[in-house]
Amino acid sequence: MTVRRSVVVGCGGYLPEKVLTNEELAQRLDTSDEWIRERSGITQRYIAAEGELTSDLACAAARTALDAAGITPDAVDLIVVATSTPDETFPASATVVQSKVGADNAMAFDVQAVCSGFVYALATADNFVKSGQAGTALVIGAETFSRILDWQDRGTCVLFGDGAGAIVLKAEDGQGNATDRGVLSTHLHSDGRLHDLLYVDGGPSSTGEVGFLRMEGKEVFRHAVVKMADVTVEALEANGLTASDIDWFVPHQANKRIIDGTAKKLGINGDRVVVTIDRHANTSAASIPLALWVATGDARIKQGDLVLIEALGGGMTWGSGLVRW
Ligand code: UT7
Repeated sequence: MTVRRSVVVGCGGYLPEKVLTNEELAQRLDTSDEWIRERSGITQRYIAAEGELTSDLACAAARTALDAAGITPDAVDLIVVATSTPDETFPASATVVQSKVGADNAMAFDVQAVCSGFVYALATADNFVKSGQAGTALVIGAETFSRILDWQDRGTCVLFGDGAGAIVLKAEDGQGNATDRGVLSTHLHSDGRLHDLLYVDGGPSSTGEVGFLRMEGKEVFRHAVVKMADVTVEALEANGLTASDIDWFVPHQANKRIIDGTAKKLGINGDRVVVTIDRHANTSAASIPLALWVATGDARIKQGDLVLIEALGGGMTWGSGLVRW
């Protein structure tokens, strides 16, 4: 039986020029390089320049991905941007990207699932492709979390960074089994009762101001360890696969200890895990596509490889996906 698959044909990314190291943070906050590295695995993060917007980061990543795919912007018929830090309350940053890259034939909208945003955006685009409503899709994760951080709150501001990553999906026929190239499955969950563990204390309908990120780190950590293990097993079981089939585990980059814990529970060796948190910190919806960009750029992820992604974020939202590259 022939099925329609969303195949990744290009991957791109962008990091702002400015690097902010742990040492620099320690000069202005009651923290230390040692604490940040030991508790999170982070050594530095990238920070967008003044006037550099989420859509600018997204466009830079999108252009790299389109170039890698050898696809011109006019061939794109869907743009989904995963972001919690849009340029403006409305319109969607995806429409800004559409205009800046000249993808005039596309429909464009944002998806808001915080750190799980890229998994949600991938699932959305995949369903558009599978249903036949789109043939070529640009899926982007882009964030300027530096703009919603309380830089006096050492419990949160040391953990996040700015950046963008993107992939291009193209419809191709597959056989309907796990040997197909493309998105094999996605698995999404949310639990709104866990709102208070990770949220921004502002917004157009509440305070009228943008607000700052607030997080109960320890509680989020606890949920992440359990939910990441469950949702990755769900992805494997749905496809009749085991962890030994996974070539690359590309988790959301929130904390090196969460990444290591999930990989260990699954039985995936460290040398098959893509880790960027040390240099990128947590870039929320951008972290997975940025990690994909890094690992395709250095030729770790190659065509035919089986890639497992997962993320958890505010909401709470969490999810996973299996993609044969
Ligand atoms: O992407 C969305 C999902 N987000 C996550 O998955 C993040 C999940 N949470 C985490 O990654 C970890 O919980 C953190 C890295 C945020 C914190 O690590 P922790 O081991 O849970 O530390 P903690 O929050 O329990 O804090 C331990 C101590 C506290 O001091 P006391 O109360 O023991 O005296 C904190 O006040 O560390 C203190 N602390 C700091 N010390 C130096 C908190 N932040 C800092 C800091 N520098 N930046």
